[in-house]
Amino acid sequence: MIKAIYPGSFDPITNGHLDIIHRASKIFNRIVVVVAENSRKKSLFSIEEKVNMIQNVIAELKNVEVQSFRGLLIDCARSNHANIILRGMRAISDFEYESQFALMNKKMAPEIETVFMVTSTRFSYLNSSIVKEVASLNGCIGELVPPFVEKMLKTKYGYS
Ligand code: PNS
Repeated sequence: MIKAIYPGSFDPITNGHLDIIHRASKIFNRIVVVVAENSRKKSLFSIEEKVNMIQNVIAELKNVEVQSFRGLLIDCARSNHANIILRGMRAISDFEYESQFALMNKKMAPEIETVFMVTSTRFSYLNSSIVKEVASLNGCIGELVPPFVEKMLKTKYGYS
C-alpha cells in the first residue's frame, strides 16, 4: 500500500495542484491532500474554506481525501501512515526550496520519501498568488482554477 500526503497552503487550490492530484491518484493507492494550518503565508481563505473547496473539486477521485494539519509535516505523514510526501515541481526555480524542504524532512523522518512530480507545461506559470492577483482585479481566471473555486474567489473579492 503506497499512501502519499500532498501538502500545501492551497490558498486556493489551482488547476496546477489538481493536475498533480489527478496524475498522482493513478500512481499511489491513496492520497491525502493536507492543508497546512500554520503556513507562514497570510491566507485569503480560512482553513475550513480551503478544505471545503478541495473536497468539492476532488469529489470524483475515490482514493483521494483532504484534511488539515498543524505542526510538522512529518508528524502529519506519520499519523496518516503515509510513506510518501508528494510535491509538485513547476520550474527549476522551485528546486532550491523544494530540495531543502525534502532534505530537512528526510533528516527528521528517514522512513518517509519525498516524490516530486513535474507540473504539466500548461500550468507551469501558475500559482495561488498569481490567481489571487488576477481575481482581485476582476480578471479572467476560468482556465486557472475549477469553477467552484472561481466562484469562491469572485465572492471574496465582491465580483459575484
Ligand atoms: O503550498 P506551500 O506554501 O508551498 O506549502 C508549504 C508547506 C505548508 C507544505 C510547508 O510549509 C510545510 O510543510 N509546513 C509545515 C511545517 C513543517 O513541517 N516545516 C518543516 C519542513 S522543513
